[in-house]
Amino acid sequence: MSIDWSRVVSIEDLRRLARRHVPHPLFGFIDGGAEDEVALSDNRAAYDKWKFRQRVFVDVSEIDTEVDLFGTPIRFPLAISPTGLAGLAWPQAEVALARAAAHYGIPFTLATPSTSSLERVAREAGGRLWFQLYVLRDRDYTMKLVERARASEYEALVITGDVAVAGKRERDPRSGFTVPLRPRVENMIELLGHPKWLWQIATHGVPKIENLADWSIANVGTQTLAAMAATQFESALNWETLKQLRDAWPRKLVLKGVLTAADAEQAVALGADGVVVSNHGGRQLDCTVASLDALPEVVRAAGEKLAVLIDGGVRRGSHVIKARALGATAAMIGRATLYGVAAAGEEGAHHALEILTTEIRRSMALLGCTVVRDLDAGVMQRG
Ligand SMILES: Cc1cc2nc3c(=O)[nH]c(=O)nc-3n(C[C@H](O)[C@H](O)[C@H](O)COP(=O)(O)O)c2cc1C
Repeated sequence: MSIDWSRVVSIEDLRRLARRHVPHPLFGFIDGGAEDEVALSDNRAAYDKWKFRQRVFVDVSEIDTEVDLFGTPIRFPLAISPTGLAGLAWPQAEVALARAAAHYGIPFTLATPSTSSLERVAREAGGRLWFQLYVLRDRDYTMKLVERARASEYEALVITGDVAVAGKRERDPRSGFTVPLRPRVENMIELLGHPKWLWQIATHGVPKIENLADWSIANVGTQTLAAMAATQFESALNWETLKQLRDAWPRKLVLKGVLTAADAEQAVALGADGVVVSNHGGRQLDCTVASLDALPEVVRAAGEKLAVLIDGGVRRGSHVIKARALGATAAMIGRATLYGVAAAGEEGAHHALEILTTEIRRSMALLGCTVVRDLDAGVMQRG
């Protein structure tokens, strides 16, 4: 059945469509957060606490949404965050997401545990590509990943800092979600209720973590991704060991998961080019400060020296404007485009970006501000 896109008008609508397309355990993996999901809901709620102070009788017939990121313009102050295993929801979802990002003139970040290889994404999508690195205990393999990203001309390396151990995401064990997928008898009826998704798996095969396909450890036994994170991610990673990665990567280096001025200052001292103010979309440590609430502190500490990106809870174009007004260079989106691709592949990813970019333009016009670069805290107040 084809989708009547004229009725899909918000990211929340795309979320509902995604929920219909994928089986319940997979939807829980995408949608859920850690423990009581306080950080997950706070991320979103933090945006609603800021109210706009609109100006009127301003000529808003032209809206300029371009901003500079690492010395090169992007068409909107937006980028796509890394989301591992996206291909479980739609075949080659990462290629679809990267193509949509390229079409809208914004960067796309490919996750280490992605189901399309970084080489394939570079070949088939192009655009501004960043590679997100999980530092593994296997240092040689980690450096091999870095070298592959360099060889495929990725613009930036995004090192995630908030996964020293796996977060406690309680929806997954409750629903029986595992990687690799292991259908359970009690989930059979649920799977049969999603014939299109089942058909995609039957025709394209069960997605694998292609980026790690030649890594012996990723292929041994039937360990779940959570077990792999627990045993294979480098929990000893620290500012000292990060220096080796800084030295090994000559292009832009971004650190993801920074929520405090102290860590932002460390990032400057390391020679990073950017940070992502992020709590992993509420999927790691629950009850962290909402990323928007952490943003001003990080901007004060490092905004002059680093690109300050932010993710977590961005579901509206107006959220992007609020982030920018509080000093972010650009906002990043994880689930918003993931819902799109999970609902309808590349078309869905496009639709998610169409919704957000149209909302950015509309909110700018209604706010009486024509240039995104001119936004500052004066356009809002706490309400
Ligand atoms: C299904 C899913 C998988 C994710 N996988 C990764 C990952 O592999 N690496 C990473 O650094 N962050 C990962 N994240 C976190 C996102 O990069 C991002 O921080 C988060 O989704 C932002 O919040 P939002 O979804 O509310 O936009 C994942 C998020 C989701 C929802």
